[in-house]
Amino acid sequence: MRVVLGPMEGVLDHLMREILTDINDYDLCVTEFVRVVDQRLPEHVFKRLCPELDQGSQTKSGVPVHIQLLGQDPHWMAENAVVAAELGARGIDLNFGCPAKLVNKSKGGAALLQHPELIHSVVKACRDAVDPAIPVTAKIRLGWENPDDCFEIVSAIESAGANELTVHARTKSGGYKASEIKWDYINQIRQRSSIPLIANGEIWDYQAGQACIETTGVDSLMVCRGAFNVPNLGNVVKHNATIMPWSEVVELMLVYSQYEMKGDKGLYYPNRIKQWFAYLRNQYPEAADLFREIRTFNKAEPIVERIKHYRDSLQA
Ligand SMILES: Cc1cc2nc3c(=O)[nH]c(=O)nc-3n(C[C@H](O)[C@H](O)[C@H](O)COP(=O)(O)O)c2cc1C
Repeated sequence: MRVVLGPMEGVLDHLMREILTDINDYDLCVTEFVRVVDQRLPEHVFKRLCPELDQGSQTKSGVPVHIQLLGQDPHWMAENAVVAAELGARGIDLNFGCPAKLVNKSKGGAALLQHPELIHSVVKACRDAVDPAIPVTAKIRLGWENPDDCFEIVSAIESAGANELTVHARTKSGGYKASEIKWDYINQIRQRSSIPLIANGEIWDYQAGQACIETTGVDSLMVCRGAFNVPNLGNVVKHNATIMPWSEVVELMLVYSQYEMKGDKGLYYPNRIKQWFAYLRNQYPEAADLFREIRTFNKAEPIVERIKHYRDSLQA
């Protein structure tokens, strides 16, 4: 089976990819989306979201990184797909699932699910423009409101020549509600089409991964939020590894702290680490206690100090 570390805008940046691919056996990563509107974007936009371009479009531990684009104009999407490919991207993923209001208002992301013909044009323009050796893939939700729309959407993507398709098995209206997940639709898609599929949504542990494979008949899985709740989720899902103990998570947070401070001198660190805590609290009750201690700090140093102190107290 394959396990993909999926895209999470504003959360899963290259530092997190480095840390999570270092401790897990992931097969592939996808970057946060590059927003394409009506121009050819400069190199630095791609490199900021995907510094791995400078190391063969792979993380330090050798996991390939694909660049995701989000946009609705076939011409400009293709132009930027070519730029990404020329910069060395190992694959180009096209986002047709983002539910953000701003993105949807300009017809990007999930809004396109209401226009399969436009999805077709975007995918075809990109596929035709990019070197055939480089995969052009897509990521969708099942539809805007009606999950039955997924069949027309998938057929639009498949006939445009996409190499693979990730299906987040909820509609845009389904938001992120667990009760809205519809893995059985992925099974129906699999039976009706021949495009290779990646199943996504609500995979939090080994059992959920197995249940998803059983329901969908697809053995390529993508994990997103769960990878933040359980830092070794890739190995949990793929190898039935034991969930990382809390003491190791604390060590990992300190590793992350070092990386993050080196990267931008700690400017974004307080927000980033608090964001991670919000996920960790879903899995580790201890995270709530430590979070209370650092919650009010706005600078990196006192947060790192507090986590170190906490680590030392665990070891004592
Ligand atoms: C904070 C956040 C940011 C996300 N950013 C992206 C993105 O940039 N591109 C994308 O295709 N999906 C994005 N998604 C959707 C996820 O890739 C994934 O499809 C969704 O979270 C369901 O998977 P999960 O249940 O494993 O989290 C985002 C989700 C979250 C929660």
